Amino acid sequence: MGIKINHVFYTYQKKATNATLALNDVSFEIEDNDFISIVGETGSGKSTLAQTFNALIFPDEGEVQTGNYVISYKNRKSRSLKGLRKHVGLVFQFPEYQLFEETVEKDVAYGVKNFGVKGEEALNRAHEALKQVGLDESYYKRAPFDLSGGEKRKVAMAGILAINPDILVFDEPTAGFDPQSSKELMELICEFHKQGKTIIIITHDMDLVNTYTKKVFMMEQGKLAFQGAPSDLFSFIKGYDRLDIPSVIKVAEKLKEKGMGIDPTKIHNNADLVAAIKKWRNKA
Ligand SMILES: Nc1ncnc2c1ncn2[C@@H]1O[C@H](COP(=O)(O)OP(=O)(O)O)[C@@H](O)[C@H]1O
Ligand SMILES: [Mg+2]
Repeated sequence: MGIKINHVFYTYQKKATNATLALNDVSFEIEDNDFISIVGETGSGKSTLAQTFNALIFPDEGEVQTGNYVISYKNRKSRSLKGLRKHVGLVFQFPEYQLFEETVEKDVAYGVKNFGVKGEEALNRAHEALKQVGLDESYYKRAPFDLSGGEKRKVAMAGILAINPDILVFDEPTAGFDPQSSKELMELICEFHKQGKTIIIITHDMDLVNTYTKKVFMMEQGKLAFQGAPSDLFSFIKGYDRLDIPSVIKVAEKLKEKGMGIDPTKIHNNADLVAAIKKWRNKA
């Protein structure tokens, strides 16, 4: 299933003098089984938007529609949203906000239990999800707050996976990870995509956007500023200081400038670059 975002507005601290218009008439559509990314400078509204997808935040105006669920101000107390979080899973930017039980396994089982799965079965689902994110039995009884940042994020992720939602939203999933851990995590996310899930990744990492996602949305000051293919985004953001284009594309552009016949818009990873250079060399 996909998500339709329809003229969504949201303001924080509405009554304060420093009220912030975080979402300002945002509309776009994510299709079923899409693998998309949402980018934008810090404070542009990405996390706020993500929280409307599973009704942690209700739009002041407009609505978010997914499956039979309509997330709107009018529905903020409606029973019709029961079950929404079984359908849309959100892994927070700061996983510590998502962890609160005394052991890892209890934490991961918590969400499942909310949907009526009992005792042993909930624990089994938790163990299965922990295995998926690469945390073995030695973690089951550990306290979540004793774990490293990366491990906490994996536990938070397992808690969502155990519920098995159709749509998975990851807010900055690789922030603070080294390149190898990022790659492992992204490969895991690709697996979920292959299983038929819709994947939404919020990220600062343009390499990740370029390598994994076919479509990208850019937020700017609460508005949708761009939607399209990653290669088009990289031309679009040349004027933005704080958004960097992928390193592999920078290299490709330099080589093109130096007269090498390669097309930077066709380069999605190091292997593409190597292949393009070889192809050019063989022709030259
Ligand atoms: N809990 C909050 N209370 C008040 N303002 C907030 C809160 N969360 C975010 N904001 C403000 O809303 C805007 C959008 O923030 P956010 O959605 O977190 O952006 P991003 O995820 O793109 O960095 C920013 O101006 C931010 O300061
Ligand atoms: Mg954010």
